[in-house]
Amino acid sequence: MVQQGDESFSSLRVDGARLRAGFEELAAIGGTPDGGVHRPAFSEAHLAARRWFLERAQEAGLETHVDGAGNHSALLRCGPAGAPTLLLGSHLDSVPYGGRFDGALGVLAALEVLRVVRDGGLALDAHLEAIDFTDEEGRYVGLLGSLALTGQLAAEHVDSPRAERFREALVRAGLSEAALFSAGRDPAGLAGYLELHIEQGARLVEAAVPIGIVTGIVGIRAFLVRFVGRADHAGTTPMERRLDAAQGASALALAAREMMLRRFPGGVATVGRMEFTPGAFNVVPEVVTVALEFRSEDAGRLDDMEAALLEQAGIEAQQFGLGLEVEAVERIAPAPTSGRLQEAIAGACRALGLPYLYLPSGAGHDAQAMARVCPSGMIFVPSAGGFSHSSREFTAWQDCVNGANVLLHAALALARRQGC
Ligand code: HGY
Ligand code: MN
Ligand code: MN
Repeated sequence: MVQQGDESFSSLRVDGARLRAGFEELAAIGGTPDGGVHRPAFSEAHLAARRWFLERAQEAGLETHVDGAGNHSALLRCGPAGAPTLLLGSHLDSVPYGGRFDGALGVLAALEVLRVVRDGGLALDAHLEAIDFTDEEGRYVGLLGSLALTGQLAAEHVDSPRAERFREALVRAGLSEAALFSAGRDPAGLAGYLELHIEQGARLVEAAVPIGIVTGIVGIRAFLVRFVGRADHAGTTPMERRLDAAQGASALALAAREMMLRRFPGGVATVGRMEFTPGAFNVVPEVVTVALEFRSEDAGRLDDMEAALLEQAGIEAQQFGLGLEVEAVERIAPAPTSGRLQEAIAGACRALGLPYLYLPSGAGHDAQAMARVCPSGMIFVPSAGGFSHSSREFTAWQDCVNGANVLLHAALALARRQGC
């Protein structure tokens, strides 16, 4: 048994070839012809990827678990009996037609860290667990798995209009609504949470720096904004007599962009979907439902953005003689990461001779749910072109290995001393 503090720890590295072989195999599950992946939560491809993950963990001699929220994990009991667990992980679900690195890299690097520790027979002060959280991308409920594990999942998450057909999906995945709420863990048993993830932005690649240490994670709010007009004949209804729901929806999308640029520089607002009813060429749209989402690192600014955007929706509705219905479908608070975990990551970078910079995350992550109950930290690696959530997503393999080695050494540093 290699006891902690042994100098040989510093020479440990992940097995890049083993990591890459697993990464390529996983990327083929739900892989798309253009090199992306299509693995929406609870889709067949997503369920297959989760089975694949458990099989690899079992082959590696690790204990495997699936909790009531469907979080899949591999556990290495490398600490003394009763020791807390340091969680390492991310998510295997993807956005529709997304990239093969988002989430997957973090889950596989976490599994690789457990393999290195197991192969080395290392004894630490904490157990290590590699976890794949359920529905991080919010096909149904954003951060579902990490909210459930941290006891933050509430009925309104599951009843949200965004969670349409969620119950059917649960059954497909062999889960039950009751069990969802049983997945909470005692925070006393959690030594912390570390996540390796691609940056999904361009800061690292433009600075030519291989590692990002995340200082905080953005808050996200999402609404369904419904403009209600009147269905009319597209041929016989003069333009000035129409109550055209598309006008209000389109005006809001344009106004939201202008508002971010002028009033909330650095903030982002996105209209990711519009649904037209009845949705025919020859009928003036009666209802258009807009999926509106906006983000800021600052909770107060999110409040101001929400008030301004919803006021604007009312202005547009009035201008076109439309009714307006607004439904909140997601509220994820911004979260700072742990200073101590930032330092552990920086120490690992220095030990590995890897330059790093500090940056906030414009993307949401499970780490922001975990930060509510235990010290949490994130390691970023560069995204070519800053592209993500599309098949253009790419991270050079050496960057992936660098990130996995930083995860390894930060985890070793944290698992060596308690209260991390
Ligand atoms: O939407 C996000 O920021 C994350 O990819 N779920
Ligand atoms: Mn992600
Ligand atoms: Mn994502």
